[in-house]
Amino acid sequence: MKIGVVGLGYVGLVTAVCLASHSSFDVIGVDVDSRRVSILQSATSPVKETGLDKLLAKVRLAQRFSATSDFGDLITCDVIFLTVGTPSGNDGSVDLNDLSEAARNVGSVIANQSKENAIVIKSTVPPGTTRNIIRTIIKQASNKKMEEESSIVSNPEFLAEGSAMKNFLEPDRIVIGVQDERGARLMRNLYSEFYGRDFQKIPYIETSIENAELIKYASNYFLSLKVSFINEISRICETLEHSSVDAIASGIGFDPRIGSQFLKAGPGWGGSCFRKDILGLINYAKNHNLDLPVLLGNLSTNDIQRRHVVEILSNRVGDLGGKKIGVLGLTFKANTDDIRDSQAFAIVSELRKRNVRVCVYDPVAMGKFREECNEEIECAKDIEECVSGADGVIVLTDWKEFKKLDSNFFSAHMKGGTLIDTRRMYNKDDFKGAGFAYIALGVND
Ligand code: UDX
Repeated sequence: MKIGVVGLGYVGLVTAVCLASHSSFDVIGVDVDSRRVSILQSATSPVKETGLDKLLAKVRLAQRFSATSDFGDLITCDVIFLTVGTPSGNDGSVDLNDLSEAARNVGSVIANQSKENAIVIKSTVPPGTTRNIIRTIIKQASNKKMEEESSIVSNPEFLAEGSAMKNFLEPDRIVIGVQDERGARLMRNLYSEFYGRDFQKIPYIETSIENAELIKYASNYFLSLKVSFINEISRICETLEHSSVDAIASGIGFDPRIGSQFLKAGPGWGGSCFRKDILGLINYAKNHNLDLPVLLGNLSTNDIQRRHVVEILSNRVGDLGGKKIGVLGLTFKANTDDIRDSQAFAIVSELRKRNVRVCVYDPVAMGKFREECNEEIECAKDIEECVSGADGVIVLTDWKEFKKLDSNFFSAHMKGGTLIDTRRMYNKDDFKGAGFAYIALGVND
């Protein structure tokens, strides 16, 4: 089977390389960014993801994956995935410009194609977009071939950074939104070839295009809501003696109706998807005159949680003006170099409002953070420089470099004050008599 993948960002590249790992597939990746294409031609990944470099080298060697900027190369493809980014516009609306342009280009290619094919939207788009906007664009550009020989399909992705390859190779479910039997058949052929007979018992959900689009939004809405929920419980725990949020999470998580995952309290959720998708859904609700207070509350709870981290510090230390505070961890979670919607931005800006001398450190994202942070900050060359002489330290992500630290390290370098562990990585007993306060978020014992 010949597969095309348009848009070789994070989702596109993982999709392309994973599909090409199967000997039945030849994959052509197309990206308008020629620099990205030439990096890929040298078999290195422009995107950091566990296992991606290795598999990319393997599929390049086997000549099952090639990258190009020429849409014309898609002419031989049976299935073409569109994996172009759909960022948030300034008003929270979803910016469809790049996706529409890609759809137009694909439409012009299939105008000259003489075999049946499916065009599959993997980009996250508001419900109704695939059928009403993208299909119309392709239909116009393809000279009506769209309906005669092509089918439009929605196939949302559920890839989390750091485990994206595993999420693709061993998915929890496959969601396919279709409007005709040809599209359904082509997708069944593709995924049964890739995953094996019966899709290896992976739940395979064939539904309407609109349902598939909304499943993606509902997924991210629910996951982020779980995190917001446990962060609210965490704030309740902090007011209650002998209380710890992880004990509550485990006490409720054994109930299969609730489930144990995504109940780890922290400094709020971040990342490239959650806020963007929630804003997209809020915008959808606005356009349809829907009142969705839980959705809005999810966003404000998250903003409150980020500010709350600084409030804990200021309640402990008192006036923060002129004090040095070290911030360890600038990515939105550990094991990624992604700083999109990272909690660190909000926390640094909250500290700066209080005239704090902010010193930051991250094992992988220093350069990017310095470029994108609009606040006056000091950038430490290592952990030691970040915490040296600090009146307070906030640890935001559980990188293994941070997990390894202990009370001796902090007491040797901090001036005193308070250490806030937002991910509860350290053993509280270890800090007894350390000469400074150790605060684990969501714990009051
Ligand atoms: C998410 C979804 O998981 C994925 O399915 C979707 O396709 C893209 O968005 P990702 O952005 O990689 O993936 O991050 P994820 O691992 O879901 O974490 C999101 C944020 O929530 C992070 O800031 C993380 O630290 C936080 N989080 C997550 C918690 O604070 N507690 C948890 O229990 C889980």
